[in-house]
Amino acid sequence: MGSIELVQADITTLTVDAIVNAANSSLLGGGGVDGAIHRAAGPDLLKECRLLGGCEPGEAKVTAGYRLPARWVIHTVGPVWRGGRSGEEEVLRDCYRHSLEQMVRLRAASVAFPSISTGLYGYPVERAARVAVQEVQRHLAESPWPERVVFVAFDPATYEAYRALLEAPAG
Ligand code: APR
Repeated sequence: MGSIELVQADITTLTVDAIVNAANSSLLGGGGVDGAIHRAAGPDLLKECRLLGGCEPGEAKVTAGYRLPARWVIHTVGPVWRGGRSGEEEVLRDCYRHSLEQMVRLRAASVAFPSISTGLYGYPVERAARVAVQEVQRHLAESPWPERVVFVAFDPATYEAYRALLEAPAG
């Protein structure tokens, strides 16, 4: 079963096979982690994204990493938080599931996830972290790929939300 790690870092610096981008449905870049990934990858990333025809919330599409240390970028579109009664949780679960399915298809050994939807899209961090950890643990129990999942927090509060869940007693 693959390992799960937690780091506080800039995801664009990590040397993993694939990093996940918390994009918007246009896939044409934005702020937050999306902006950081496009800045670090260079203009060829946007050129490839233009060919993808956008991405539905919950779906995941793959591009090369270009100037990033990561070989691939998996672009996924998280839900915008609207209070929790508009199916946000299911869309967030789909982001993790479909990103992990792309890992299996790519035979990628290591992947890094940002905290999808918990920035501009306003999803409460604790609730989002629970979804993220549940979906990754569920996947790793059933699939040999990836071998290594890194959750990347960009601030201490997000780091703490994931740490509390990952260190909670199993069961
Ligand atoms: N590395 C890792 N995590 C980062 C980085 C980075 N370089 N920059 C930001 N983050 C973190 C944020 O602090 C937050 O915890 O990524 C998490 C997700 O925040 P956003 O990037 O705002 O993404 P999201 O909430 O999913 O909103 C997506 O924002 O940037 C636009 O185009 C994007 O419209 C889309 C929306």
